[in-house]
Amino acid sequence: MAKMWAGRTDGITDKMADDFNSSIHFDSKMFRQDIKGSMAHAAMLGFKGIISQSEADTLIGGLEGILEDLENGSLQFDMTAEDIHMFVEQELTLRLGDVGKKLHTARSRNDQVALDIRMYLRDEIDEIVSLTRRLIDALVCRAEEYKSVIMPGYTHLQRAQPITFGHHLMAYCMMLLRDLSRLSDCRKRINLSPIGCCALAGTTYDTDRYFEAEKLGFDGICMNSLDGVSDRDFAVELMAAISVIMMHLSRFSEEIILWSSWEFKFIELSDSFTTGSSIMPQKKNPDMAELVRGKTGRVFGDLFGLLTVLKGIPLAYNKDMQEDKEGVFDACDTVKSCLEIFVGMIETLKAIPENMKKAAQGGFINATDLADYLVKKGLPFRSAYKISGQIVSYCISEGEVLESVTLEKYKEFSPLFEEDVFDEISLETCVNKRISVGGTSVSSVEAQIEYVKAELSK
Ligand code: ARG
Repeated sequence: MAKMWAGRTDGITDKMADDFNSSIHFDSKMFRQDIKGSMAHAAMLGFKGIISQSEADTLIGGLEGILEDLENGSLQFDMTAEDIHMFVEQELTLRLGDVGKKLHTARSRNDQVALDIRMYLRDEIDEIVSLTRRLIDALVCRAEEYKSVIMPGYTHLQRAQPITFGHHLMAYCMMLLRDLSRLSDCRKRINLSPIGCCALAGTTYDTDRYFEAEKLGFDGICMNSLDGVSDRDFAVELMAAISVIMMHLSRFSEEIILWSSWEFKFIELSDSFTTGSSIMPQKKNPDMAELVRGKTGRVFGDLFGLLTVLKGIPLAYNKDMQEDKEGVFDACDTVKSCLEIFVGMIETLKAIPENMKKAAQGGFINATDLADYLVKKGLPFRSAYKISGQIVSYCISEGEVLESVTLEKYKEFSPLFEEDVFDEISLETCVNKRISVGGTSVSSVEAQIEYVKAELSK
């Protein structure tokens, strides 16, 4: 069958070229947006008298019918159609006859596809935001529960200072709050309407771009028609924001994987979010976390794919741009599934406080507090640091820990040591003295929880 655009050519294309050119197998995902965009367009054409009001109503009714039939499954996509835009128009004309052919007045597939993607991604952002918020809620809940459970805090993956598990979990809440703010910033730039830019240069018809923008819930319109049809910055931005979310989830996954290993055993993942091995009966594998870490690579690839597609193409529309969709759809689908899996994993994991505490007791994690003790007794920090280092070195050679050294021995290192040193270097004191804003004490973590809750309710 000849193409709808037959005219300049006979519209008869090679089957292989058709398959290569066609995007319906992925852009059919945007059928709702495409149809709603067309309804607004038909309404504008009627409102401005470019077509009659009754023709506009007929078009809108026809489009409504197509939407309904696609939703309830009584209409299937024609996979031989070039893309979703052609499919809807072809179906409309099939149902309405010649009036269907009036829909494409004063627009082009170039502004139509830009409109559809913006509308689609706007909806996706809303879903990603709500899943991110759910994950923050789950984390806040677990942080409340574990706000006084002591674990080692690390730098260089070496035990550094004692912190609480609640404090650690709250760090991820802060990252996810920034992710929310990046998403909402990106949404502002997505939410501008390109419809009416037409092929590239605008139109001679007396259209009303603001009418369509308002009908479709946009905050404004793209102000240059060349830019309106060739801008995909918003998809790049969204994928960048999603990549940062994935990077956060991937770091978290790495910790979950480490923590659930026998070497750490800080947490136990629920059976419902782990897998077994087909050969090793003892295995309980953190596959979900590993998959999130792995999928992060794919999402970074999606971002770089689009940046690379865009970097060499002249204004305005080029068919290269059809390559924008699969990557951005994949990034959205992937981050949504990863966020969802994370909510489940976080809600069901169990901390093992004894093991966390045991790990915090080794490794001289309170050596900084020992030095601070001497500082409080009047020694300059550098001297206190040196003495503490000597005590640590003594402990290592004697197989002792700071808590097991006698007061007499302490006094050999410095006469400033008194009985109160033992209380000062207990892990509970080390944690609960850190009352600085953002610190690890129970009261500081409680303040962080309040802060996050307040941010979420804004
Ligand atoms: N399927 C195309 C895309 O995704 C729609 C726009 C086609 N425009 C054109 N002039 N061929 O980009």
